[in-house]
Amino acid sequence: MTPTSCTAAYFTGAGTTRAITERFVAAIEAAGIPARAVDVTRAGSDVPAFGPDDLAVFAVPSYGGRAPAPALAQFARCEGHDTPAVLIVTFGNRAVDDTFLELADTVRAHGFIPVALGAIVAHHSLMIDVAQGRPDAADLAATDELARKVLSKLAAVANVRDAELTDIPGNHPYRDFHGVPFRAQADPARCTGCGACARQCPAAAIDPANPTATDADACITCMRCINVCPARARSLTGGDALVAQRAAFAERLAPRVESYTVL
Ligand SMILES: Cc1cc2nc3c(=O)[nH]c(=O)nc-3n(C[C@H](O)[C@H](O)[C@H](O)COP(=O)(O)O)c2cc1C
Repeated sequence: MTPTSCTAAYFTGAGTTRAITERFVAAIEAAGIPARAVDVTRAGSDVPAFGPDDLAVFAVPSYGGRAPAPALAQFARCEGHDTPAVLIVTFGNRAVDDTFLELADTVRAHGFIPVALGAIVAHHSLMIDVAQGRPDAADLAATDELARKVLSKLAAVANVRDAELTDIPGNHPYRDFHGVPFRAQADPARCTGCGACARQCPAAAIDPANPTATDADACITCMRCINVCPARARSLTGGDALVAQRAAFAERLAPRVESYTVL
């Protein structure tokens, strides 16, 4: 079976999952298959419809070895029809733990069949001294290779079930993760009240009428509001504790971890 199109849905906080998804989509297009990437990060934003001969892609960053809950909520609104799916996880040079399994469990329940996985190392969006300069040439090559390999894999089978990945890495119950003790906050002196952060937030944690107020319980520390703020008014709480954690992670996660694919 050869897909006639490719539709990728991705969640991104700091932008590297977008970059990797777009790279993957470009590699599929280079093989002559029309492809598109759809950002589903914003809470309640439209999710794409998947055609009968689509290759689906679901891409997320790993947070605490898990898939971000708002991303899963968006993917659960997608509808497949035994549609082959590539799962892509970006991660900050530590590990993905149960991210693929959680992602696979969600999309399987909605008509998708995981056929390939790509774990791509990217700059750690929270522990910002980790994996600087990633994704680099080797990570992008792994992304390109994932696109080439999944097309060859599908071309070699008549039925998508023959390409299915049955043994997805990860464990049930999923790794315990309840977020990090840092939240994005706005500097009222800099905030212009434009509301870009509120519109872009995946967790609806920012009040559009008062963007300097963040709902600490809802915030998942994805860094998106910090990245989209045109006034650079937003930053993380945490002070010395954050500085210390960043230094500790930089030391612990200094050895290079490679991107990898599973097909
Ligand atoms: C709250 C949070 C938790 C994270 N947990 C992990 C982790 O468990 N393992 C890891 O390797 N990277 C972790 N990271 C790093 C991200 O997975 C990595 O930077 C990812 O590429 C970010 O994607 P984005 O730029 O699309 O937001 C975490 C980042 C954040 C913000």
